[in-house]
Amino acid sequence: MIFLKIIKVRSEQELGEQAATLVLNQVKQKPSSTLGMATGSTPKMLYTKLIECFQKKDISFSNITTFNLDEYIGLERDHPNSYHYYMDHQLFNHIDIDKKNTYIPDGLTADLEQECQRYELLIKKRGGIDLQIVGLGLNGHIGFNEPGTAFSKRTHIIELTPSTRAANKRFFNHIDIVPKHAITMGISTIMEAKKVLLLVLGRQKAPILQKVLYGDVTEQVPASILQRHPQVTLITDIHL
Ligand code: GLP
Repeated sequence: MIFLKIIKVRSEQELGEQAATLVLNQVKQKPSSTLGMATGSTPKMLYTKLIECFQKKDISFSNITTFNLDEYIGLERDHPNSYHYYMDHQLFNHIDIDKKNTYIPDGLTADLEQECQRYELLIKKRGGIDLQIVGLGLNGHIGFNEPGTAFSKRTHIIELTPSTRAANKRFFNHIDIVPKHAITMGISTIMEAKKVLLLVLGRQKAPILQKVLYGDVTEQVPASILQRHPQVTLITDIHL
């Protein structure tokens, strides 16, 4: 809690603008930054604003590397609900980033354990993540680290909880086709990022955000670990 900076906003639009300003500052400060990317509905406006900044020539992503938090297991890259598809369409296709420098876990490979290790190694080789963007799941997850996941975990395979699958059902036609597993950066991986930008939108997340910020630091509320990160900025429209 001590280190957390909170930026209060009144709308999704404002959340996008404030978050884009922080990303812009990071990239200006270090044009070769490594950014950690998140998916879900919350960061969409951030990505829209970043595209606008790029179009206005306020920012270039040509020297940026990105690592996404997670990916579903078993979805083709061009499946509209895969995070590969999401990132291409929400951001990468519209900016000057070199796609070779955009990393997302491969949820299709035969050897998933090896993929987890490969991903960790790639992050390490790149010198770690400078700024990690994270959203918050309704059950307190970050990335796909579901309640009960050990804080010591690095990139790993996770079985999604029924509540996460139900929450993400809105993007699929039927609950039966929501993937049951995902690859996610672990809590340890996320905690090693130099800065974390936590984005939380919507009153339905007020109870969980309250626990994340003011509750015990517990594996039952994965995001509560952020209380112990030295440089977290929270942008939210929730009145706490
Ligand atoms: C998914 C993602 C998370 C994301 C969460 C919240 O489960 N794996 O990274 O933070 O959803 O999504 P939303 O922003 O749509 O509420």
